[in-house]
Amino acid sequence: MSVGGEKKFQYQKYNQYFGQAMTGTEELCASELEELGAREIRTTYRGVFFKAGHRTLYTIIYMSRLLMRVHAPLINFACHSTKYLTKTAKNIKWESLLSLEQDFAISASVAGSKIKHSLYASQCLKDGIADYFTEKYGKRPDVDVKNPDVRLNLHIDRDKAVISLDLCGDSLHKRGYRKATVLAPMQETLAAALVRTSGWQGDVPFWDCMCGSGTILCEALMHYCHIPPQYLRERFGFENMPDFDAGLWKEVRKENDSKIRSLPAGLIYGSDKSAKATRATLENLSILPNSKNVQLSTAQFQQSPNFENGVIVCNPPYGMRLSNEADVKVMIEELGNFLKRKCNGSSAYIYIGDPKIRKSIGLKPKRRIQIPNGPIKGELVQIDCY
Ligand SMILES: C[S@@+](CC[C@H](N)C(=O)[O-])C[C@H]1O[C@@H](n2cnc3c(N)ncnc32)[C@H](O)[C@@H]1O
Repeated sequence: MSVGGEKKFQYQKYNQYFGQAMTGTEELCASELEELGAREIRTTYRGVFFKAGHRTLYTIIYMSRLLMRVHAPLINFACHSTKYLTKTAKNIKWESLLSLEQDFAISASVAGSKIKHSLYASQCLKDGIADYFTEKYGKRPDVDVKNPDVRLNLHIDRDKAVISLDLCGDSLHKRGYRKATVLAPMQETLAAALVRTSGWQGDVPFWDCMCGSGTILCEALMHYCHIPPQYLRERFGFENMPDFDAGLWKEVRKENDSKIRSLPAGLIYGSDKSAKATRATLENLSILPNSKNVQLSTAQFQQSPNFENGVIVCNPPYGMRLSNEADVKVMIEELGNFLKRKCNGSSAYIYIGDPKIRKSIGLKPKRRIQIPNGPIKGELVQIDCY
């Protein structure tokens, strides 16, 4: 009896899924998942397990601003050799997930296991899939690593393997609004995590005083206007689930799109000292609905007017990426002075890429949250100004 035939896939038996999170955002993702209706939420390193019915699952994938991916486990098994991996893969009823006309790709990770190499492991899984189709149909679906119709994931941890269907397609951080960029743009899910951590709900003005290509502003706009983060996405991996319900998905999309609201003038501001950056921000914002009322200017924050009783979220240049460390230290010192003198009653959330630079701000942080960004030891520092 093959898995996915009479024997159900694992997600069908337990309604349990895995949401991939950025390091340091696991708890934030868990609270977002709870708001979106998930049950039995459990965080782990760089991820969250949760249970959900199909309506909630589609909602999570359409509406999560923080998750990178969502996986539906198909099968899990003890796996001590690549031979056994290929053999097990041949026992899955692949045509319920993947047709001969579709192409596919496999991402893999291994840790603390007899199988050491993730690339080789993914090839063994691919061989199992190819053998399955070839033996049954005399041909097999193609592999396309760049833009596949179906994405699969293999995760082997301490000799326990899980093969999952990726329910997203492209990573969820790809919102579709990034048309223009500048040096060192922030990842969209990270920007969304900063906006969420700030607790800003639109009752006071919001300002990114070093907006670069405008990622934080785009995420703040989407958050305030209730624009679904996947509003611009056309294809979703969950459409490949054997039990995908197209009618239900249409309903979920329509219901969430109907909640989009407009942005009042004077609520979201962005500025940058570089005209190229503000032009990029304008271009990116213009892809999103209701962005006309975001106010942009080309200015150094040092020369900006007072910004009182608002929320500032920004991401100053990282010494290692944009300018030299000494310049960044001076600029952060000036930011501290600006906050002290001109931002009475505001709260600032500053994502600092280099922890050595944090002290230059000269103000006592109310909170510090570690959120690494790839190799960068990023930290979000909250400063309440009074
Ligand atoms: C790390 S980038 C911001 C990236 C942005 N979050 C994004 O997603 O594209 C830092 C930005 O700070 C701007 N900047 C540096 N010093 C500034 C200053 N004194 N006033 C205003 N902007 C400044 C730079 O021009 C740069 O665009």
